[in-house]
Amino acid sequence: MPELPVIRRAPRSLPIAGHALPLLVQPLEFLKSLPALGDLVRVGMGPSDAYVPCDPALFRQILKDTRLYDKGGLFYDRGREAVGNGLVTSRWADHRRQRPLMQPSFDHRHIGHYAELMADETDAMMRSWRSGEIVDIDQAMARLTLRITTRSLFSVPADHTFVTQVEKWLPILMDGFFLRMFVPARLLPLVPTKTNRQYPRAIAEMRKLTEEIIDEVRRKKDEDPGLLASLMNARDETTGEPLGTQELFDQVLILLIAGSETTATALAFTFQLLGTHPEIAARLREEVDGALGGRTPRFEDLSGLTFTRQVLMESLRLYPPAWMFTRATSTACELGGHTFPEGTTFLLSPYVLHHDPALFPRPESFDPDRWRPGAMSDVARRSVVPFGAGGRKCIGDQFAISEAMLAIAAIAGRWDLTPVRDRPLRPIARATLKTGPLPMRLRERPHEPVRSATTNDLRDQR
Ligand code: HEM
Repeated sequence: MPELPVIRRAPRSLPIAGHALPLLVQPLEFLKSLPALGDLVRVGMGPSDAYVPCDPALFRQILKDTRLYDKGGLFYDRGREAVGNGLVTSRWADHRRQRPLMQPSFDHRHIGHYAELMADETDAMMRSWRSGEIVDIDQAMARLTLRITTRSLFSVPADHTFVTQVEKWLPILMDGFFLRMFVPARLLPLVPTKTNRQYPRAIAEMRKLTEEIIDEVRRKKDEDPGLLASLMNARDETTGEPLGTQELFDQVLILLIAGSETTATALAFTFQLLGTHPEIAARLREEVDGALGGRTPRFEDLSGLTFTRQVLMESLRLYPPAWMFTRATSTACELGGHTFPEGTTFLLSPYVLHHDPALFPRPESFDPDRWRPGAMSDVARRSVVPFGAGGRKCIGDQFAISEAMLAIAAIAGRWDLTPVRDRPLRPIARATLKTGPLPMRLRERPHEPVRSATTNDLRDQR
């Protein structure tokens, strides 16, 4: 029998801190160096160790067995402290009850309805733009996706105060949570940043905003067909029990965050990539002009926008917003011929797989043609996991893809976005992967846009 290779530990680990420093300061470079060390690599996440699967088969094996490899480890343990026990963070026993309650709100029929609101909000955003002005596209996309999430999932329009409050507190919550993954509680008082100090307040403020949404939906419960109202009415199949008040609250907070942060980031990266690859932007415009001729895209248009989809998928490959997360084993187990005790942490990084040159030639280049039918091997295609895989795969994947494609097509059809700064983008890896501020100059495209029959012009509120 061939001997099993030993699991190597990544170099330059420090006592107590382990690899906390490279994981906090240069996490992407650090993680990208791991496949050279083997299929499974050991890293120190602060005081405890974690194993990183660098081989796509091992990665999928972990994601497939949701009971054995449960939501735990530093990412989800700290995540539960920050945002509670909702669908993203819940352990197997709660999740198997929660997911069937929420799944129907994300089926194809509902996405078709949400798509009208997505297009409407995107139109309203573009009506607030003026040719020649410079806009921070990172911030604009965050506002757009927040408005879409609250309106489509909770049937509550996000007013100006709500949006600015989320803009103020959510980044602090996300950064504070990320810091707490690597810095033990007793050392936190030594971190002198404003974000660290304001973290408890950020949690409290985000909870207040969540309460506002729930109160609003309760007030108009009978007329509201949205996800939140259906969760309020949902009953467990076996016990007949409704969701508890705390559980409902946690679901709303988690959907508010998961539903807006990630898609906003994906859109910001996509516009940055298009802005720095004019030939690809031109091909995208050609497709969009041919299919839409200046009108607002609809859900039914999406299947014909093949290059737009390729652009989005390639952007998600290069910059997966959920670039890392963890699992912890609920019992002792065997993986790749090695045995691991109960409570072992695995750190999973889609970024590692997506940038592996053995899977993707020239992994750093933005090449939407990789996504042409037949251009990629099956192994490579299955290694692109921006939405995860298995029973904990993102419930909002089709929601997000529709939302992002509608926004890309609508914006590319009517506007040219040019980056103002010419220095290369350095993605910022925190709880999600971020572009940071992304000032871009807007130029309205010369053809006469066909206005869609959409509702309110929100310019005054923005
Ligand atoms: C580009 C956008 C998005 C990306 C890249 C993304 C990524 C992910 C990933 C990787 C996971 C799995 C995490 C794990 O296995 O530990 C996940 C789970 C989840 N996402 Fe998303 N997501 C996106 C958009 C959305 C949207 C729009 C929503 C809601 C409207 C959403 C809600 C959720 C929820 C509730 C889960 C937990 C699912 C479960 O465990 O059953 N996500 N997402």
